[in-house]
Amino acid sequence: MALPSSSSCKHRVLVLAAALLALAMAPPGRAAAYLYDDLKLTWGSGCSYFYMDGGDADTLALCLDRSSGSGFSSNASYLYARYDMDIKLVANDSAGTVATFYLMPDDVPWEYHDEVDMEFLGNATGEPYTLHTNVYVNGAGGREQQFQLWFDPTEGFHTYSIEWNPKYIIFLVDDTPIRAYRNDRARGVPFPAWQSMRAEGSLWDAEEWATQGGRVKTDWAQAPFYAYYRNFRVTPCAPCPGVAWCGDEPPESAWFDQRPDAAALQRVRAENMVYDYCVDQKRFGDTGFPVECTAS
Ligand SMILES: *[C@@H]1O[C@H](CO)[C@@H](O)[C@H](O)[C@H]1NC(C)=O
Ligand SMILES: *[C@@H]1O[C@H](CO)[C@@H](O)[C@H](O)[C@H]1NC(C)=O
Ligand SMILES: *[C@@H]1O[C@H](CO)[C@@H](O)[C@H](O)[C@H]1NC(C)=O
Repeated sequence: MALPSSSSCKHRVLVLAAALLALAMAPPGRAAAYLYDDLKLTWGSGCSYFYMDGGDADTLALCLDRSSGSGFSSNASYLYARYDMDIKLVANDSAGTVATFYLMPDDVPWEYHDEVDMEFLGNATGEPYTLHTNVYVNGAGGREQQFQLWFDPTEGFHTYSIEWNPKYIIFLVDDTPIRAYRNDRARGVPFPAWQSMRAEGSLWDAEEWATQGGRVKTDWAQAPFYAYYRNFRVTPCAPCPGVAWCGDEPPESAWFDQRPDAAALQRVRAENMVYDYCVDQKRFGDTGFPVECTAS
């Protein structure tokens, strides 16, 4: 994974050195953290489980059966961080199922609810998944963009990432940026900028709308359904010395000043995007498009 390489504050080097030192001083023989130390199952039917995939990869099998879906939440919660997760999606007939990976704050009233979503909408056997993305700020979403993936996401694990820094929310698939939502608060564009968020995930039944507009339902004869999650990583933002909190740095020294690769974004837009609220005339043609959809 590419860490921000340019224009970070000098302090970063110190943080790294301190981390290495801490590692070196850790008691010998200390076992690596288990996935269940980082992720807690928060709801569900009880058929989810942690296991060693291939004997050495600590993996969560998230389960959906007739009685319930299930979900997890990360222990880590930060104001600005990059969260990475390797996911293998429900194989074969996944119609009606939705697997998710998203960021959310702890319980706050809906008018303060922020959320950054990656949702994988299942499909009939052999038909492509849709990756649905959205950004909620202060309880308001409606910023959907959808993509079809350039590989079969059920055959193996792929890395899905949300980088949330003071300037952008960047959605990445195998390190390729697919969407960048810019912090343009100067123009009145809402951006989550004051409360920390956890990574969460779930597998649930959304047969009323998920697949081909709800026409293809969940085939419960195939249940239980499983999506697999592993290799969860968090890279939190750390403020520069003399700066009270991340996001308050002068623009030239901000941590996580990683800008999305514009050429890669353009390519994905041209080849993989299947829906963009910013060009939905039917929806916004009469009322006017959201500010972030208009040129700055
Ligand atoms: C989970 O979070 C709590 C509170 O922040 C912390 O004390 C604990 O060490 C964390 N556990 C892990 C495994 O990171
Ligand atoms: C998907 O179908 C293949 C071929 O029929 C089968 O081998 C495999 O076990 C199925 N996978 C799941 C998760 O049902
Ligand atoms: C499912 O497959 C159909 C047919 O290829 C496609 O039109 C649709 O976008 C796919 N995804 C969903 C979520 O329905």
